[in-house]
Amino acid sequence: MKAQSLSQLLNLLPFILHSVNAIPARKVEESSNPGLRGSKTLVGYSPSESHGSSTTPDIKYSLLPGQKNDPDIGTYLDFTKVDNPQPIRGDTGGDDPGPRNYGYDKMNSDKLAPPGTDHGQTINAQWPMGLSHNRLGIDNAGWARQENTVVMPAATEMAGVDMRLEPAGYRELHWHVASEWSLVLNGSCRIQAVNENGETFVDDLVAGDVWFFPPGIPHSIQALDDGVEFLLVFDDGGFNEDNTFLATEVFLHSPKEVLAKNLGVAVADFDSIPNDELYIFKGTPAPKDIEKQNVTTSSGIVPRSQSYSYHFSEQQAHEVAGGSVKIVDPLTFPVASNFSAAIVTVHPGGMREIHWHPSSDEWTFFIKGQGRATLFTAPDAATTFDYMAGDVGYFPQSNSHYIENTGNEDLVFLEVLKAPEFTDMALGQWIASTPHQIISDTLKLSDSTLSKLKTEKQYVVAGSASDE
Ligand SMILES: *[C@@H]1O[C@H](CO)[C@@H](O)[C@H](O)[C@H]1NC(C)=O
Ligand SMILES: *[C@@H]1O[C@H](CO)[C@@H](O)[C@H](O)[C@H]1NC(C)=O
Ligand SMILES: *[C@@H]1O[C@H](CO)[C@@H](O)[C@H](O)[C@H]1NC(C)=O
Repeated sequence: MKAQSLSQLLNLLPFILHSVNAIPARKVEESSNPGLRGSKTLVGYSPSESHGSSTTPDIKYSLLPGQKNDPDIGTYLDFTKVDNPQPIRGDTGGDDPGPRNYGYDKMNSDKLAPPGTDHGQTINAQWPMGLSHNRLGIDNAGWARQENTVVMPAATEMAGVDMRLEPAGYRELHWHVASEWSLVLNGSCRIQAVNENGETFVDDLVAGDVWFFPPGIPHSIQALDDGVEFLLVFDDGGFNEDNTFLATEVFLHSPKEVLAKNLGVAVADFDSIPNDELYIFKGTPAPKDIEKQNVTTSSGIVPRSQSYSYHFSEQQAHEVAGGSVKIVDPLTFPVASNFSAAIVTVHPGGMREIHWHPSSDEWTFFIKGQGRATLFTAPDAATTFDYMAGDVGYFPQSNSHYIENTGNEDLVFLEVLKAPEFTDMALGQWIASTPHQIISDTLKLSDSTLSKLKTEKQYVVAGSASDE
């Protein structure tokens, strides 16, 4: 059966089913309802039967102007502006009679109609949190969804969790084997911990602030009056948020006699501990005065140089031509010894310049707006991905990429590296700072082109917003 007649059949299916439903049940039994299998005479070529149809499908569509360009120009195609987007660029591709999912095709124009410069197969460098299974907390206290190697197998160095806690909601007291770096995305929360020296820590954070908890350090997070949403990044791509050491579980799985002896209390004192984990749950609101929760031991508080929080929201962004950048890494936030991050803002039409990170893979989270990136992997594979707010991106160490704003509002994203310092190599600076003779011998660029190249790193270049 040709695709044409299959799709006609699929179109007819609702009517067929409807007519079947309309026939009384007994009639169906007596009717000539075909069996589950066809006849053996359908096998192979049969001169007496004609197959296929001589009419070509009538697929109505219009192309965006950018689809008529040379595919290697790779113009961004906004397929949300057309009814029936088609996998066509210049003289490559062809129309699509279906089956297809228009929602995905419109959101991922660089997948449906890739630039001519894409080639071969790279890793999958995109995971929309919207495709992650959500874990809903009890008492409407919040939720959490995660990205790890189960859904993004090549993202081996880091994993992430997007978590919401409603006002007074807790992420239960816990610890884990991995290191946890976090960015507050919305609202505010109180975080609290005690370290192996008995030094204590408590702080209140707002959207834009960062925290870090080393492996094994038990901590809790409670939303303040406006609730909180935050992003957690772990230094292990296989991290599973459902597999942490919880306060309830360590109590549930220690003999009560042992707990009583350990804490110097009676066995009966444990009669009302919860009989299951709480994970995300509603608590009593945290006192407004943080000093009421400032518990100290004889060791005092965690020294400021090793503090678990960094008030990144108060750091001014460094302005560049196409947007702004701000970096937090162990040079200013020492406790987060192997986490370096940048928040990048790209104005419409602008682009985070082509770069790579010599010391680490990059785990990216799209906070606002939309953009696209091409991941280039040696020797010759390249894939272009379209990202929206809520998506995770992943670019392996030394694999080049850019991030271009494809929307008409600011694009904001987070780059996280597993490295003691935030560093990158910029393609523009590399080419501009290499002797012109070497570049013109290699890339055949003219002297006038070479004279325009900028020897300084740009971070985010400006551009005009595309009107497609
Ligand atoms: C938090 O989200 C709400 C709802 O989207 C928004 O109105 C508010 O401005 C956000 N707050 C911050 C600090 O981003
Ligand atoms: C907690 O108390 C200590 C002194 O015991 C003080 O140095 C510190 O500033 C207080 N507040 C917080 C939030 O740590
Ligand atoms: C930091 O991360 C890198 C991987 O990017 C790893 O090779 C290195 O061992 C880590 N260093 C520390 C101190 O954890």
